[in-house]
Amino acid sequence: MSRSHTVLVAFGGPSPEHEVSVLTAMQIMAALGDTPHKALPLYVTKNGRWLTGPAFSDLSAYQDMKKLEAGGLPVAFAFGADGRTLLRGTADTGLFSKPQAWAIDVVIPAFHGGSGENGAFQGVCEVFNLPCASSGVTASAVGMDKRLAKAVCRAYGHPVLPDVDFRESEWAADQQAHLSRIEALGYPVFVKPIHLGSSIGVRKATDRPALVHAVEDAFRYDAHVLVEPAVSPLREINCSVLGGPDRCEASVCEQPVGSGELLSFQDKYLAGDATKGMASADRLIPAPIPDQVRDRIRTLSTAIYRSLGCSGVVRLDFLMNDATGDVYFNEINTQPGSFSFYLWEPAGVRFPELVARLVDTAFETHRSQTGRVRSYETNLLSKKAAQGLKGLKGMKTRKPG
Ligand SMILES: Nc1ncnc2c1ncn2[C@@H]1O[C@H](COP(=O)(O)OP(=O)(O)O)[C@@H](O)[C@H]1O
Ligand SMILES: [Mg+2]
Repeated sequence: MSRSHTVLVAFGGPSPEHEVSVLTAMQIMAALGDTPHKALPLYVTKNGRWLTGPAFSDLSAYQDMKKLEAGGLPVAFAFGADGRTLLRGTADTGLFSKPQAWAIDVVIPAFHGGSGENGAFQGVCEVFNLPCASSGVTASAVGMDKRLAKAVCRAYGHPVLPDVDFRESEWAADQQAHLSRIEALGYPVFVKPIHLGSSIGVRKATDRPALVHAVEDAFRYDAHVLVEPAVSPLREINCSVLGGPDRCEASVCEQPVGSGELLSFQDKYLAGDATKGMASADRLIPAPIPDQVRDRIRTLSTAIYRSLGCSGVVRLDFLMNDATGDVYFNEINTQPGSFSFYLWEPAGVRFPELVARLVDTAFETHRSQTGRVRSYETNLLSKKAAQGLKGLKGMKTRKPG
């Protein structure tokens, strides 16, 4: 096993899945306890403030959020004098006392939804030269956008359902035209906000009044909506992929089991033991599907992971027509609930090994990116500087007037 590193576990944030992220982070920090690594919590409040402190690693402390936040130390990333990246206290500590600071080796983002999963936080890590145990900016951003994720899959020849998408302003400008395009898909349809998760704002519509209502409801959550035909009879199959851009492998498949027509927030997080986050939901592992369908889903999963340029652990969700056996890629979660550890345990990969592998892959990916030529030495600036601004050809310089 690799040597000991300080692993910043970042979680929470302004997202409807804030609480689920706290549960995932607690599981990750507990798993890190069984590795040589040391966990350092970075809790992002629902308002976006960054806090740290030992209490943030203790699930029972979250019972009193006011007290927990009040006791937290406000922090931010900073470069130390030696060039290492630090998590540093930002509170005014007085003239002669140094702010508290911790050197960080690697980050595990454990956010679900919002800017912690959509590439924005991954971008901040990149700016601060921090190895990050998740997909990078592009794959995270595409993965968070149901429309773009499907479009990329379609372009690579992976199976996806047809769809119609539009922005709120386009819907308002010509509702009739959009209704006609949607009705050409055939009822029933599913209406979804493109950037959300956890089934928030997702509705099935079997006729026009229900469709209009579903679209308007989806616009309460997102300015961009996607509509696709319903798969029926439906069987949902999920598969996790773990690795990096060069090597990845697929887990066993699971079949999540819901209580209604669509898997709800309730089914996903509130069934069973709620303290276990995504791991508590009802599911069949391995999914009871024919071997050839399982093999197809596992092969598709690693192919899509590579097409999107993912890294770390992800979960891909598929919709299967139970009558025909046809399988469609539905969505990818680049930071899946509970990091899908329950899909790796059957293959003998325990949670501590999973997080240790994520840490190793983060370093590998970081080395492979930073080890390349990133600056191009020229004497352009010294030459141009000698000529002054007038020497810049093709650039209009106007006198301020
Ligand atoms: N095209 C579809 N046909 C049938 N059921 C669907 C379809 N799209 C979504 N669903 C149901 O709605 C649930 C939530 O939709 P999904 O696209 O997975 O959004 P979320 O990101 O919120 O999980 C799915 O788990 C599934 O039960
Ligand atoms: Mg889903």
